[in-house]
Amino acid sequence: MKGIILAGGTGSRLYPLTLAVNKQLLPVYDKPMIYYPICTLFSAGITEILIIAGSRELELYQKLLGTGAQWGVHFSYALQERPDGIAQALIIAEAFLHAEHCLLILGDNLFFSAGLGAMLHSLKTKEQGATIFACRVTDARRYGVVEFNAAGKVLSLEEKPLQPKSQYAVTGLYQYDEQAVELAKSLKPSARGELEITDLNNLYLKAGRLEVKQLERGSAWMDAGTPEALLDASDYVRIVESRQGIKIGSPEETAFKQGFISREQLLLLAKKLSHSEYGRYLTELAEDA
Ligand code: G1P
Repeated sequence: MKGIILAGGTGSRLYPLTLAVNKQLLPVYDKPMIYYPICTLFSAGITEILIIAGSRELELYQKLLGTGAQWGVHFSYALQERPDGIAQALIIAEAFLHAEHCLLILGDNLFFSAGLGAMLHSLKTKEQGATIFACRVTDARRYGVVEFNAAGKVLSLEEKPLQPKSQYAVTGLYQYDEQAVELAKSLKPSARGELEITDLNNLYLKAGRLEVKQLERGSAWMDAGTPEALLDASDYVRIVESRQGIKIGSPEETAFKQGFISREQLLLLAKKLSHSEYGRYLTELAEDA
């Protein structure tokens, strides 16, 4: 299974923060936002990752993340000329995917869920279809919304409905089989001019090939797309990290725990960052291992 991170978009809900800097490069407490979705893909054991961004920021991502070799993975980069919708990411990724299954994650979606890595690992052996992840929220109107019946069967999926049929939002993490690219090509732009990921998911739903998994109670899912959400995410990370003395969303740590890099490699990475608290944390992690 290959990974795709969609880090495009104008970030207009964050203006003026994002006038000169791409949203996914903004800090979520002590690290760039994109580190968190990278860790989600790493936790699934994924080492082949395509990063899709606009022309203005592609170079910055290359500067920040490089080839991925430092973390034992491989990053490729692709341009999204215009933010024409999430489903467009699959079309852009066609050559990279080479008919393999993929896990697509939005660059501003942060998942803090103990069981998620194992759940994602298990999808590697799934033969066909799509899997999406739902999470209970207070205001579902901002999201794709999934409606279940009493038996937990999915009845409908709607994008940003004015009257949501449930409180379950569809998160920005999607797993697809090799048919997703062709199906995405068959979509027509929505009223807001985008190839909607909800339309793609509806094609899978109608074909009886969509699985919806609910994030476990106690999991946290955040999208850092507005100033409040960005601050909430930073607060969440800061509180957990300072209370527990751990880091969340560290690619170095996740790569080490997944066995992508050795203890010696981790020590070298830590050394380069040793002036920061983050670097000292990594040093301790390597020394204690
Ligand atoms: C997108 C999707 C939506 C999903 C959300 C998750 O919305 O269209 O279905 O619930 O991501 O973050 P956007 O935030 O791009 O408007």
